[in-house]
Amino acid sequence: CGIIGILGSHQVAPQLVEALKRLEYRGYDSAGVATINADGQLDRRRAVGKLVNLSDRLVTDPLPGQSGIGHTRWATHGAATEENAHPHHRGGIAVVHNGIIENFKELRAELVAAGYNPESDTDTETVAMLTARHLDQGMSPVEAARATLSLLKGAFALAFLFDGEADLMVAARKGSPLVVGHGEGEMFVGSDAIALAPFTDRITYLEDGDHVIVTRAGAEIFDADGQPVSRDMATIDVGATAIDKGGYRHFMAKEIAEQPAVLGDVLSHYIKGDRIVLPDGMDFSEVDRITLVACGTAYLAGYVAKYWFEKLAGLPCDLDVASEFRYREPPLSEKSWGIFVSQSGETADTLAALHYARGKVAKTVGVVNVGTSAIARDTDTALPTMAGVEVCVASSKAFTCQLAVLAVLALKAAQDRGMLDDAALARHLADLRGIPALVNQALSTADDCEKLAEWLSESADVLFLGRGPLYPVALEGALKLKELSYIHAEGYASGELKHGPIALIDQNMPVVVVAPRDELFEKTVSNMQEVMARHGQVLLVSDAAGIEEAGDGIHAPLTMPTGGGLFQPIVYAVPMQYLAYFTAVAKGTDVDQPRNLAKSVTVE
Ligand code: G6P
Repeated sequence: CGIIGILGSHQVAPQLVEALKRLEYRGYDSAGVATINADGQLDRRRAVGKLVNLSDRLVTDPLPGQSGIGHTRWATHGAATEENAHPHHRGGIAVVHNGIIENFKELRAELVAAGYNPESDTDTETVAMLTARHLDQGMSPVEAARATLSLLKGAFALAFLFDGEADLMVAARKGSPLVVGHGEGEMFVGSDAIALAPFTDRITYLEDGDHVIVTRAGAEIFDADGQPVSRDMATIDVGATAIDKGGYRHFMAKEIAEQPAVLGDVLSHYIKGDRIVLPDGMDFSEVDRITLVACGTAYLAGYVAKYWFEKLAGLPCDLDVASEFRYREPPLSEKSWGIFVSQSGETADTLAALHYARGKVAKTVGVVNVGTSAIARDTDTALPTMAGVEVCVASSKAFTCQLAVLAVLALKAAQDRGMLDDAALARHLADLRGIPALVNQALSTADDCEKLAEWLSESADVLFLGRGPLYPVALEGALKLKELSYIHAEGYASGELKHGPIALIDQNMPVVVVAPRDELFEKTVSNMQEVMARHGQVLLVSDAAGIEEAGDGIHAPLTMPTGGGLFQPIVYAVPMQYLAYFTAVAKGTDVDQPRNLAKSVTVE
């Protein structure tokens, strides 16, 4: 969820909505705003669904007031209904919330016993009711909010407004991100700096456990022990937060097309001539193991990297989804490094996994797109992926830029560990430097993908197969298709086909085989024969040589450029993105904001 709070100098509802637009990537099940009107009373408007429904509501039923809070929701407790939408308003206080209050059931039971009856299913309303109860007990607004905060368990960010207090906002963060923005006679809080970019470039990042008392004159920050603290103010680059579709129909189409340029940027940042340039201390000579942790698409980038680290550098590499890693309590070697991959740098599970690993490993490294994010700040070394702002919820350019950075790391590891002679290193670096041009050529598969998407869009299920470092690319193809088109898709290692998924094969299920003509290709051809012998219809994504060798019987060949060496997965990501994109367009689903998903998931 995304939260925003403004103590402004004119009507704030339009500003709240503008900020919420920039926070919609955090969820878009419902949205709401509350302001304090001329009589000093809190009033609110909420609407289910996309933000546009809320802004329509505000046209017919405007909300005056110069102090306000707003919220865009990704439902956790309680369905996406207007009753469950934020702000929650009980007895003189309104609150917006991101995260989960883990002990809300106990707290709610106590409140019910004391005569406070909930109106919604949400954990957030419990926060509002608790605070209302504290006010009823005679506490001041600040005391009431503090008393509430002291009772809450879980990970959350909160912002409170109070009846009759037009120059006061209390906000807190524990586990979920929150920033304070400083304006001229205006003050802001928000889930991220990007949301505040239209209003101010002066930002203070709150630390975990902080709470802040905001008035138009400034912000007083208190740490987890309740002691006043000062936190630095940073000036952010507002230009870097520009968001527009640049003439494309969807952000995703634009972001796919940007890949040659952003990959060129990131690779020339880390590779100068035939030298790999990384921050000090990035020396792998003494490292005995790598642990890669991430979620979703970022996890699949890590999966490709595992092949690279092991093959190029001979460095054992563990890989885990963050939600499993953090609770499995895996033993970690003191000589190992943990690498945490995340576009947003805010994903709750990945952040918690990083906090688990800190102190247990020799170094934590972040591969992150948002340079000001929690993961960027909390890792020993944060390596920017430099993809620029990615708006579409489904990741495309952030994924390939993650792969580019991880490829550089794997080569550096190989070099430091003496696994590559100069000539071999130069060859791999040349392959890697050639990737943006190959990705550019791969963009021309768009027309073919658009045609193939007509077929895919009529299927109920699609299987994706790949081998070696292309196996995670097949997984990514399946993930993208699911996310965007809501078609059931699964990715499998080609060799696993016969151990289960072959039972599904019939003439109705397309099988996408991701297989450049490499040393494993013959094995994959055998797997395709197994599919075709059962009337399965193969969509083969390969280079010209591979398509020729595969011979007759391929239902749909998709020709890719040749080259890229070990780094081909970056190039092969492109048709995976386009197949999913055009299938979604053909089905008419919401490409940039698929149902039920959020770009930045700050709850577990
Ligand atoms: C969400 C998004 C995915 C993304 C994952 C990890 O689930 O919908 O597209 O891959 O989070 O996000 P991160 O910001 O950590 O890369």
